[in-house]
Amino acid sequence: KQSVKLIAGNWKMNGLGASLDEVAVLRRALEAEPATCRVALCPPATLVERLGAAARGSAIEVGGQDCRAEPHGAFTGSVSAAMLKDAGASLVIVGHSERRQEFGENDGLVAAKAEAAVLASLAPIICVGETLEQREAGKAVAVVRDQVMNSLPKAVLGRDFAVAYEPVWAIGTGLTPTLEQIEEVHRAVRAAMLERLGLGSAAAPILYGGSVKPDNARDILAVPEVGGALVGGASLKAADFLPIIRAA
Ligand code: G3H
Repeated sequence: KQSVKLIAGNWKMNGLGASLDEVAVLRRALEAEPATCRVALCPPATLVERLGAAARGSAIEVGGQDCRAEPHGAFTGSVSAAMLKDAGASLVIVGHSERRQEFGENDGLVAAKAEAAVLASLAPIICVGETLEQREAGKAVAVVRDQVMNSLPKAVLGRDFAVAYEPVWAIGTGLTPTLEQIEEVHRAVRAAMLERLGLGSAAAPILYGGSVKPDNARDILAVPEVGGALVGGASLKAADFLPIIRAA
């Protein structure tokens, strides 16, 4: 049996204080008609605390976009999992492809970050996904399987966590895999999770991410093994994010 779907918004490096107006709109809409799924927003670290305050008492959960694996120390510019927790977060994205690509984060580091997250009582959303080159070489399933086997620490077992499958070529491009391709990879992710962590991981949702929009959300969220969505651009405005929440 699968748990309730999770729709998480990743604001990436977008959002100033004025963006909290969108949270207020979203909040009011969800109070008028509660969501049937979990809803989370992951703003930049500067807004975690204020977004948490704006969402307090509502069903909207708050997450970070990354954390350092170490608990504290001389790491200028970094934020620890405990700091995000202290600021009001309950989740954190780790291993997003933008960090894997831009900061050279590998599976081992992503696993260490996910472990740091659960130690701080944050639910990690662990991201995996193939590049266009890997997809075209017919390696998508193998690459993603490998990432799952090596990016999920045993520490997530029995804890709240999710895996997000985001084909790199679908992020911010308006391109999406076919529903069949999404199903194929999600089934492979589930199989790898079970192999790595056993039956105890069967309830953890596998999110799809990459150009999820109001007009494709319903079809994508109906694909077997799709347990939610990680939404970038369409999470910035309540008018776009709400229909995706309603599609779950
Ligand atoms: O974390 C979110 C993903 O990278 C998807 O971004 O919805 O803007 O394509 P996008």
